[in-house]
Amino acid sequence: MTTTAATTTTATATAATSGAAPGTACPASPDLLGSAVLPGRSISVGIARAFVRDLLRVAECHQVDDALLLVSELVTNAVQHSDSGLHRHGQVSVAVVDAGATIRVDVTDDGSSGAFPMVAEAADLDTERGRGLWLVDRLATRWGAHGSPAGRVVWFEIARRPGCP
Ligand SMILES: Nc1ncnc2c1ncn2[C@@H]1O[C@H](COP(=O)(O)OP(=O)(O)O)[C@@H](O)[C@H]1O
Ligand SMILES: [Mg+2]
Repeated sequence: MTTTAATTTTATATAATSGAAPGTACPASPDLLGSAVLPGRSISVGIARAFVRDLLRVAECHQVDDALLLVSELVTNAVQHSDSGLHRHGQVSVAVVDAGATIRVDVTDDGSSGAFPMVAEAADLDTERGRGLWLVDRLATRWGAHGSPAGRVVWFEIARRPGCP
């Protein structure tokens, strides 16, 4: 399982195009920190977390723990609720952009005909289900979902830590 995931994973962790190094100030214009294409399977949740954690070392003044939690929720949703998890060659991709004031993470799945990302009603939160997008809604500065050529993008932005230069 792990081997398959590794061989079907395409990950590019690029240095910021401005040449930013770990510990330097975040750039004023958005920079793609990296992107990864992963299998549409649950093993990709941990791989995506580790990938984003490594990338955010470059932009270390952001709310990394919150960002990683939200990455887990969105990749889990892509696997559970979209076609990414239904088909043998389903994929989910993760892209991380340093926009200076925020980090933006795009999670792209293969789309779905039946379900659409929606925050659960309060009543649903009493159950095990329905907490993922509720957390995204609480912790992200902004988030949203839209169609894309690949299927659907669910994205969030998360702010710099207070007091960060
Ligand atoms: N990537 C997605 N594609 C299609 N539907 C989604 C996606 N993400 C979330 N949803 C829908 O939004 C609902 C709420 O998601 P979430 O809050 O994570 O709860 P849960 O995953 O426990 O059902 C899901 O039950 C599903 O119907
Ligand atoms: Mg969920």
